[in-house]
Amino acid sequence: MEVKTSLLDNMIGVGDMVLLEPLSEDSFLENLRKRFDHSEIYTYIGSVVISMNPYRSLPIFTPDKVEEYRNRNFYELSPHIYALADEAYRSLRDQDKDQCILITGESGAGKTEASKLVMSYVAAVCGKGQEVNKVKEQLLQSNPVLEAFGNAKTVRNDNSSRFGKYMDIEFDFKGDPLGGVISNYLLEKSRVVKQPRGERNFHVFYQLLSGASDDTLKKLKLERDFSKYNYLSLDSAAVNGLDDAANFRTVRNAMQIVGFMEDEVQSVLELVAAVLKLGNIEFKPESRCNGTDESRVKDKNDLKEMCELLGIEQSVLERAFSYRTVEAKLEKVSTTLNVAQAYYARDALAKNLYSRLFTWLVSRINESIKAQAKTRHKVMGVLDIYGFEIFEDNSFEQFIINYCNEKLQQIFIELTLREEQEEYVREGIEWTNIEYFNNAIICDLIENNQNGILAMLDEECLRPGTVTDETFLDKLNTICAEHQHFESRLSKNSKFLTDHSLPHSCFRIQHYAGKVLYRVEGFVDKNNDLLYRDLSQAMYKANHSLIKQLFPEGNPAKVNLKRPPTAGTQFKTSVGTLMRNLQTKNPNYIRCIKPNDKKASHIFTESLVCHQVRYLGLMENVRVRRAGYAFRQAYEPCLERYKMLCKKTWPHWRGPAREGVEVLMADLQVPAEEFSYGRSKIFIRNPRTLFFLEERRRQCLQDLAALIQKIYRGWKCRSRFLLMKKSQVVVSAWYRRYAQQKKYKQVKSATTVVQSYTRGWQARKLLRELKYQKRCEEAVTTISAFWHGTQARRELRQLKEEARNKHAVSVIWAGWQGTKARRELRRLKEEARRKHAVAVIWAFWQGLKVRREYRKFFRANAGKKIYEFTIQRIMQKYFLGLKSSMPSMSPIDRKWPARPYRFLDGVHTELRRIFHLWRCKKYRGQFTEERKAVYEEKLEASEIFKDKKALYPSSVSQPFKGDYLEISKNPKYQKLNSAVDEKVLLADVVNKINRANGKGTARIFLLTKKSVLLADQKTGQVKASVPLPDVASVSVSTQSDGFFALKLKEGSASAVKGDFLLSSEHLIEIITKLHRIGATAADREQLNVDISDEFLVQFKQDKVCVKFIQGGPKNGSSVSCKRKNNRLLEVSVPTTA
Ligand SMILES: Nc1ncnc2c1ncn2[C@@H]1O[C@H](COP(=O)(O)OP(=O)(O)OP(=O)(O)O)[C@@H](O)[C@H]1O
Ligand SMILES: [Mg+2]
Repeated sequence: MEVKTSLLDNMIGVGDMVLLEPLSEDSFLENLRKRFDHSEIYTYIGSVVISMNPYRSLPIFTPDKVEEYRNRNFYELSPHIYALADEAYRSLRDQDKDQCILITGESGAGKTEASKLVMSYVAAVCGKGQEVNKVKEQLLQSNPVLEAFGNAKTVRNDNSSRFGKYMDIEFDFKGDPLGGVISNYLLEKSRVVKQPRGERNFHVFYQLLSGASDDTLKKLKLERDFSKYNYLSLDSAAVNGLDDAANFRTVRNAMQIVGFMEDEVQSVLELVAAVLKLGNIEFKPESRCNGTDESRVKDKNDLKEMCELLGIEQSVLERAFSYRTVEAKLEKVSTTLNVAQAYYARDALAKNLYSRLFTWLVSRINESIKAQAKTRHKVMGVLDIYGFEIFEDNSFEQFIINYCNEKLQQIFIELTLREEQEEYVREGIEWTNIEYFNNAIICDLIENNQNGILAMLDEECLRPGTVTDETFLDKLNTICAEHQHFESRLSKNSKFLTDHSLPHSCFRIQHYAGKVLYRVEGFVDKNNDLLYRDLSQAMYKANHSLIKQLFPEGNPAKVNLKRPPTAGTQFKTSVGTLMRNLQTKNPNYIRCIKPNDKKASHIFTESLVCHQVRYLGLMENVRVRRAGYAFRQAYEPCLERYKMLCKKTWPHWRGPAREGVEVLMADLQVPAEEFSYGRSKIFIRNPRTLFFLEERRRQCLQDLAALIQKIYRGWKCRSRFLLMKKSQVVVSAWYRRYAQQKKYKQVKSATTVVQSYTRGWQARKLLRELKYQKRCEEAVTTISAFWHGTQARRELRQLKEEARNKHAVSVIWAGWQGTKARRELRRLKEEARRKHAVAVIWAFWQGLKVRREYRKFFRANAGKKIYEFTIQRIMQKYFLGLKSSMPSMSPIDRKWPARPYRFLDGVHTELRRIFHLWRCKKYRGQFTEERKAVYEEKLEASEIFKDKKALYPSSVSQPFKGDYLEISKNPKYQKLNSAVDEKVLLADVVNKINRANGKGTARIFLLTKKSVLLADQKTGQVKASVPLPDVASVSVSTQSDGFFALKLKEGSASAVKGDFLLSSEHLIEIITKLHRIGATAADREQLNVDISDEFLVQFKQDKVCVKFIQGGPKNGSSVSCKRKNNRLLEVSVPTTA
């Protein structure tokens, strides 16, 4: 039964006060001091951790330490806050019990640090992963933000929490954090406008001024110098060991991690700056005619800057500092504010602004750290609330703070001392009562709904008539006079009439932690927490998203005449909720103790520690623990937890749980004095017994795990074996089949080989026999052939001999015949030569005779005949040659063969002309009617313009399209199309030349058989319609421009507006078409086309001369028209190359 734990061995002093011998206040303090001197700051009272503030950093919060305490039993290692955090976390994770960590102690005792240690430990040991780490990081980083805005330097603590904080961390079933919820309690907002001597305003103001960049400060209209701001106390602006600038960077970084947007951070800083500016606004009195004083803002610069920061109209805020509007049910009454009231209003606004900003920050953080998953979660609450405070001057805030501490003490008493003792009685365990002080009576003095101090303060605040702090004190003096914890100089029982330590304007309460003297001044105001409606309305009107949110009551649409609950009531309600919440959770206590008042390490001021030990009720706590039992558990869970330690109860116990536990304890041979059986629980006296049970359970669990592992492994191996066996059968079957197949194939191929050899051998044998037979046959044949051959050759030789003889005879005969024939041939040739010579000589002789006779006839006739014959032959040859070298049928083919003789010139040219005309006729014969019309148009154009206008040559190759705009198809011109009832012959965009400046305006030019129309290019609206009979003539220049003037008949209806001077890229086509219509219309005379470089155009009344000049290179490549004077428009036409 020997359990070795380091809590009990090698310990400095005693690690658990329950084990202290002898137990007295002195030995208690001595033990604390001894441990404190050896840097052992943690000591247990059972499961409660006492934490002494070391005021220096100790090497006991390292990651190694976290590992050391991780998953270890509470009593296994020396006392540490990590042990408590581990115990709480494990029972949350493994036993599904919601936990709360209650950290109490006076200001500066180390509560906030302890809460951070608990959170960082839990963060280190719980699950990991990207998402989980992000949640952890956000939870941890919420601290620097809240500390910057909610903590301040006080005389007791350089980083004193000026608000209460309760944080619920939510976990999933695996123990991974999901998120959290922070509740904040009453920020000490009076600090914003005034700080006691030696104290500072909230950290954030100093951090902003020291740490923000010059640029940021400029934007916020701030200066770095603290002394420029009335709201910042200067005597302790710089705090030792506190680097405001670095902290500012930390806070900004933390805000970013928590999830604040950049514009949200900017808004928050603007509000902080606005509070500082607000403090600098000062007022002066201004007398009114009715004799009263009215306040006026002294120097409006700060007011202006503040209004600019918050987007408030300066006049609205200025008015709110001078007037106050009181709204009754149907009336609105406006009264002026004097200077004091204006200052009061200013401070109230600053306090409200700041405290609402703080509340907004908390809700914004909550939004970020809210658990995303909707699954059921387990909760660990960490409560870090302001510590008990006794100052020289204690006001409403201290009263509230101390009330809260009273309530916490109450819950501690409830859950530890009283609950414990009552439980023993309830369970029927023999027990001697331990006396302890129950502070319920003090709580009642403060919070009782009928005659509690808070109720009376509310009553006073709501009462009509003059209400002052004094009337409130009078009321207390009457109602609480008899209360044993209430003291006042003028209380009705006059007990304290002569007590000079008790001023007239004060009352004193004997708190559980000591007597505190409260000055009543400001109680009523602070409880009322009034902000004039004009101010909240001014704030609501601000053009600043955050401010608007902070002052919803300023919305004139939501005027609520009901008073909001007082500050005291609000606090009482939220503390009540907190207490109910805490009661539903399993509590874990950390009792913080402050070793000295100097914030110094290594100093242990006994009187101070003794005072804290007394009021925290630690001695009673130890006594109750010692007298009682260290551990208790209901029979069912106890049996469930330890039943594996006994064969009779494992694995199932069929009887009642209590009997099972009895059997179990008997089996384990636990000495009877170590435990008691209650009605529903077993009580274990000594922690060692519990360790013994736990250790046995751990071993047993290991054995069970080994057994389960063994069976599982056996099952796994067997299944694997069976599977392998089955597989092996399959594999071997497959293998055998394969082997047999292979063998069969081998035998088969061997058989084939043997067979083939045998067959080969047999075949060869047969072959040999056959070959032999064949050879024999061949031999016979050969022999007979030889025999026949010999005979034949012999016969041949005989025949050859005969033939040779015959041949010699015939050769000799032939030779003889040849010689005879050649001799005859020579003779015949000689004869023929002689005959030819005779004939030639005869012919010459005859010729000579004939020529001599006919010479005279030849000269008269034969020459002419020969000439005619020769000419005839030449012509014949010429025509035949022409026929074979005719050119192609294309009318544009200019080729024609060259003439062979000069005398053929005329014929040659005429033939060429006739041929050309003939092929043109053939070409024309192929034309359709449309093409014919086109060529006719072209022909007409040529007649009008050829050699008259320089533009003409370039138009020859361009086909005349007529409708360039596709009027009938284009939906854009649908309207225009419907306005024209004739067929459109030509549609094009032309420029209508403005007489005033010579510039052109684009117009649609439509030509039909009856009229010319000009329409707007964009809208298609018809601007002018001229019937063709009204057109007298058209004038164009000789040059390459597209200008033309439509001249109208004088006196015609269209002539009223004057002639049209237009320009078009298709000028040749337009004029030709116009001319053609004139030519075809029976009722009209031919249209005149004037081609000249100067012509007159009638514009309304005036005649203007349009003159065309050949432009130099200056004009560039475009035609330009300029007005020279009233009567002259000059058109410069670029020289065509
Ligand atoms: N465990 C610790 N190790 C080192 N220093 C500590 C520790 N606990 C507290 N301190 C020191 O004591 C100072 C005050 O501690 P802390 O702010 O936690 O007090 P508190 O109980 O929260 O006071 P208050 O009620 O005023 O908020 C800390 O700023 C720190 O310097
Ligand atoms: Mg604190």
